Amino acid sequence: KAIQLADYQAPAYEVTDTHLKFELNDGYTQVHSVLTLKQVGDGNELVLNGQDLELLSIRLDGNELTTDDYVLGDETLTLSGLGASHTLEISTQIYPEKNTALEGLYRSGGMYCTQCEAEGFRRITYYPDRPDVMSVFTTEIIADAEQFPVLLSNGNPVSEKTEDGKKHVVWHDPHKKPAYLFALVAGDLQVRDDHFTTCSGREVLLRIFVEPQNVDKTEYALDALKRSMRWDEEVYGREYDLDIFMIVAVDDFNMGAMENKGLNIFNSSCVLANPATATDAAYQRIEAIVAHEYFHNWSGNRVTCRDWFQLSLKEGFTVFRDACFSADMNSSTVKRIEDASMLRTVQFAEDGGPMAHPVQPDSYIEISNFYTVTIYEKGAEIVRMLHKILGAEGFRKGSDLYFERHDGQAVTINDFVQAMEDANGVDLSQFRLWYKQSGTPVVEVLTQYDHAAERLTINLRQSTPDTPGQTNKKPLWIPVQLGFIAHSGEDIEVRPDQPDFWTEESQVLHFREAEQTFSFGGVIEEPVVSLFRDFSAPVRINYQHSQSALRFMLQHDSDGFNRWDAGQQLMLHWIELAEKGRFKLVKEDIAALHSVISDESLDPAMVAYLLALPSEAYIAETRKSYDPVAIHNGREQVLSEVAEALIEDFKACYERLNVPAEYQPAPADMARRSLKNLALSYWARASSDGIEAAKAQFKSADNMTDQMAALRVLVTCADQAEAQEALNAFYEQWKHDSLVVNQWLTVQCGSSRLGSPDHIEKMLEHEAFDWRNPNKVRSVIGAFANQALCHFHSENGRGYRLLADAVIRLNASNPQIASRLLTPLTRWKRLVPSQSHLMKAELQRIMDSGSLSKDVYEVVSKSLV
Ligand code: ARG
Ligand code: ZN
Repeated sequence: KAIQLADYQAPAYEVTDTHLKFELNDGYTQVHSVLTLKQVGDGNELVLNGQDLELLSIRLDGNELTTDDYVLGDETLTLSGLGASHTLEISTQIYPEKNTALEGLYRSGGMYCTQCEAEGFRRITYYPDRPDVMSVFTTEIIADAEQFPVLLSNGNPVSEKTEDGKKHVVWHDPHKKPAYLFALVAGDLQVRDDHFTTCSGREVLLRIFVEPQNVDKTEYALDALKRSMRWDEEVYGREYDLDIFMIVAVDDFNMGAMENKGLNIFNSSCVLANPATATDAAYQRIEAIVAHEYFHNWSGNRVTCRDWFQLSLKEGFTVFRDACFSADMNSSTVKRIEDASMLRTVQFAEDGGPMAHPVQPDSYIEISNFYTVTIYEKGAEIVRMLHKILGAEGFRKGSDLYFERHDGQAVTINDFVQAMEDANGVDLSQFRLWYKQSGTPVVEVLTQYDHAAERLTINLRQSTPDTPGQTNKKPLWIPVQLGFIAHSGEDIEVRPDQPDFWTEESQVLHFREAEQTFSFGGVIEEPVVSLFRDFSAPVRINYQHSQSALRFMLQHDSDGFNRWDAGQQLMLHWIELAEKGRFKLVKEDIAALHSVISDESLDPAMVAYLLALPSEAYIAETRKSYDPVAIHNGREQVLSEVAEALIEDFKACYERLNVPAEYQPAPADMARRSLKNLALSYWARASSDGIEAAKAQFKSADNMTDQMAALRVLVTCADQAEAQEALNAFYEQWKHDSLVVNQWLTVQCGSSRLGSPDHIEKMLEHEAFDWRNPNKVRSVIGAFANQALCHFHSENGRGYRLLADAVIRLNASNPQIASRLLTPLTRWKRLVPSQSHLMKAELQRIMDSGSLSKDVYEVVSKSLV
């Protein structure tokens, strides 16, 4: 069942040209392909992949084949005894209207669209559906002219005509590509156009296609696209390579978006925005995803993956690129805090669970299960470490060499590292282990200060825990970015005693053995040691700062990330005490928080993060075993004490920042709104004046950021009747807008106040809910199981049963969504025993529920071990 990296074999045949003809009819679609085959490897056998296809005919060099001429397996069609070159013609019939898995060609509302990554193309026609087969595609689409006036595919439009009520359009993509980058869209869509002039002076037509009611939500994505195109030219020297670039928004979509060559397809929630309907967070997500998909044009499309074990080659690198872009467009510190915090919460949990896998896995049952935070975000952290080790210039030399060497090829992660090595003359053999070893490394730190010698010694020990299938892990090359803070708050300049292990420019210590001791001279006073600044490596750190050192760092660390993290460590400690009934905010804590909130020289977005408590999910992640209800209660108590102790500060902060201003999705405005709304959430927790302010803001807001923030405050702090009243009013105002309704579902289903299993069941019956739409499923069930933790983990196990029922239901219609949704249940080993066995029982019930998709089977079977 499992596919192994070790079994990789290069293809025997290449498809130099692929001609496709789609006839879209009501209820069924016919696909005719003409493939030009050329022998390029060992063997004379051609294996074509196919899934849920009706084979109509197959011809080789003009001769119709019969069932004796090929072997039709469950998911393959094999031809043997072939020669050096052939023309293969295949006709299949498919049923996009019945495709609820949303892979291959499917219907979403009034339009047809495709999702081919990773293995969706095989649901369209028989084809060598593997990324190392790259072909030049020509695509003809024929459809009813009135219903489907817009017919799109990759590359450039070649011809267009209408005959007998049918529209015929031909597209040609001159760049060879694997089938997973193929796309087709048909619909009655409106377009918004723009232009971009590339660095060499070429004009590119930019087009966003949407359903007519969404035309007023396209401006920001176009703006983000143009900024991405410029940024990739400036930072990576990468120019766009077609005369047209298209984006299409689709309502039913399994993931965020897809980088199909010249025709990116987006989940509408990741591309559509206007001030009235989208929050600042949505704007930032759109900017990041538009950039991500655009950047794939080079890191993914021009240079692609040899096989799916190399997925992080394109995803890790591209996430790193989009993160740097967002950092350049906004506050880089805040972006780093967001990314590191997500990694520590979600990726560390994955790495510590039954689905733990290396960034380059060596086996899988269903590749869709490996579009994970490990492949994407830990992969991006590895690329970031390379950047740190090589420096910006060295990294750019490496990426230039990589693109030059491998343009037009399907390559491996090793090829990427090799280019970095060759361009910089460094040996990265030890560094490569990051790609191969799963699990989160733990670094234990001891420091010792010798006042007389003015010397600070740092002892580091690293280990990586065993993970499924992996034991006895080797030491990694860990870049430790360091600072030594004096009483003045300034960094002390130090001299390393082992200069070979120290990069002065980036203040990085190279920690490469199981245990190493480093020392620094010139340390004139005992410093506070600020470790892993900028979150320089994706590791857990064991180092016990004193409470006073943490308060000091919260106020003085020049590294924004560690400044924030010091606050988080303090708050984690408070919550732990609160759980034991021993928490009392002391005056030093209050003073530290006060100095942060009243420091108007700080970026308000940063202040908002400094004052926010760690999430329940992150708190859980820091414990060996956890009780979600205790965590929730402890955290609530700390929230209330902070709110009460600083009530005047929060009120003043809210009033200072709550100034009338026209909505702009600009960094400074977003920063102001984020602090304002954080202040409101504390103020409303501590006083009825704050609740009144939230009600007023809810009613008068002219933008979704403020309206949603106020609604969330009311849902969290107002009495139940008032909360429900606000929710009802919101629904009446927005029920015509599906994306806003999704946010409305999320705010209640993810609420530790309202998100009870009863409430979730009610929402599943609501007119706004639709099992076929992944965004709706995520907004209700995803929000419940990932955010309303005290309800999901209710003692009677009802939350688990509800999730398992949803998984069983979706397993039949949309396996990818079913498999993703089930993640919270896979964490059963970390819960207190009473909950743990209830969770395991639900996993077992899914296992026994009948015919499981590969997607769900893989996750459940690995989790039950
Ligand atoms: N390559 C896309 C992106 O990261 C994601 C495609 C995911 N597809 C899937 N079947 N899981 O931008
Ligand atoms: Zn991607």
